[in-house]
Amino acid sequence: MNIRCAQPEDLMNMQHCNLLCLPENYQMKYYFYHGLSWPQLSYVAEDEGGKIVGYVLAKIDREEDPEDSVPHGHITSLAVKRSHRRLGLAKKLMDQASRAMVECFDAQYVSLHVRKSNRAALHLYTNTLGFSISEIEPKYYADGEDAYAMRKDLTEIKDQHGLRQLQPESITAS
Ligand code: ACO
Repeated sequence: MNIRCAQPEDLMNMQHCNLLCLPENYQMKYYFYHGLSWPQLSYVAEDEGGKIVGYVLAKIDREEDPEDSVPHGHITSLAVKRSHRRLGLAKKLMDQASRAMVECFDAQYVSLHVRKSNRAALHLYTNTLGFSISEIEPKYYADGEDAYAMRKDLTEIKDQHGLRQLQPESITAS
């Protein structure tokens, strides 16, 4: 199994995987929007034959409030085919996307939405990846189900990889 950055030619297979795994589906142009705007952030998992068995589709957002305008990553969609679940692929895809958000865009945190009833994904986000619930968004989904808005702080990743930006005093001192 191999995890790599998604290429434009992967986008159709990512959409196919999405259609198999989730009720939230998007037009091809939405995949291209992600791929063209933030080519560093979306990843695929492929099997030994090069077949795509999972993906994470991600982007960068900014708060609308200009006072609080820090860049942050957002996970638009994540899925792993049934045949390849519980192998750690979702965790690896999420880790790669989060790291790229920090390295390429200095993202401060990563956000996402998940259905209240999605136990597997909630387990992954909360227990394995360290996200917490920031808000409940009533009737967020087209069928009326509520969403948990979740967030994970990325400053720890920044520190781990020595990516913290220089502070003004360290700039003047050197
Ligand atoms: N039940 C409970 N915990 C689970 C489950 C499950 N079915 N699946 C994963 N986890 C948790 C476990 O803690 C697991 O660690 P463990 O296997 O050591 O116990 C941990 O998450 C890591 O699991 P991974 O193997 O990395 O997860 P996987 O590759 O199986 O993918 C995913 C998880 C993406 C939720 C998969 O089940 C899936 O594609 N589901 C359908 C689509 C979906 O719900 N996507 C997320 C929607 S929200 C969004 O897109 C922003």
